[in-house]
Amino acid sequence: MSGGDEKSPKEKAESMDKIAREIFKEAYPKIADKIINTTKIKSGKCIDAGCGPGMLGISLGKKTSLFIDLLDISEDSGEICTKNLKSENLTDKCRFVLGDVMQMPFEDNYADLVVSRGSIFFWENLGKAFSEILRVLKPGGVAFIGGGFGSAKIEEDIVKKMAKEYPEWRKSEKKGKKTTIKRRLKIVKALLEEEIPYESICDESGFWIILRKKNEIIIEIVREREAGTDFIF
Ligand SMILES: C[S@@+](CC[C@H](N)C(=O)[O-])C[C@H]1O[C@@H](n2cnc3c(N)ncnc32)[C@H](O)[C@@H]1O
Repeated sequence: MSGGDEKSPKEKAESMDKIAREIFKEAYPKIADKIINTTKIKSGKCIDAGCGPGMLGISLGKKTSLFIDLLDISEDSGEICTKNLKSENLTDKCRFVLGDVMQMPFEDNYADLVVSRGSIFFWENLGKAFSEILRVLKPGGVAFIGGGFGSAKIEEDIVKKMAKEYPEWRKSEKKGKKTTIKRRLKIVKALLEEEIPYESICDESGFWIILRKKNEIIIEIVREREAGTDFIF
């Protein structure tokens, strides 16, 4: 800890756990539904990148037959996440993995689905993180990454509770909105710079980027077209 009111990494992880299990509680199942409805992926392997205490992965684990790797760079979050997985009886289908989203400890073409909520804003090199996500996705796999609270009603309740219990969280709505726009633009800029095709959702559920890893056959057709050697089509 450096300053008087600066939190240690352990205190930060504990605080996120308390907020996630109490104030943000309603958001995770709602976001999990949005992910399932959008991606239609309910089985196979999933990575929850920047999982923190693990609530999004836990909600997905309860609603699907996915095997979920909950990845976070923080060891303190890892201890809390493992405790939460045990208390939810999910250790047979979910596990915590320590790692950086920019260098994930997974082989190429590993996951059917990569999800992430509220973590992207902390990733130092967005371009590197996106290419790493595409590396670990299987051809045909989908990533659903961003931030939000699932619905306007849930967000309204959360903002009220946070303003009461953690007034430093969003000093003013105006400042909060400006920060939100800047963060979103930074994400889109990184995708454009890396020439990564993406879809985005910006609705009451939040702001989400969807990346789809193409099947090898489609990549090959595009390559042949570019080279002018596709005699079949
Ligand atoms: C605001 S918390 C969100 C936690 C959780 N996804 C949620 O919605 O409750 C952000 C998390 O991202 C993690 N994180 C930040 N940078 C990361 C990185 N480069 N790789 C993996 N995790 C990272 C932090 O350790 C923290 O647990």
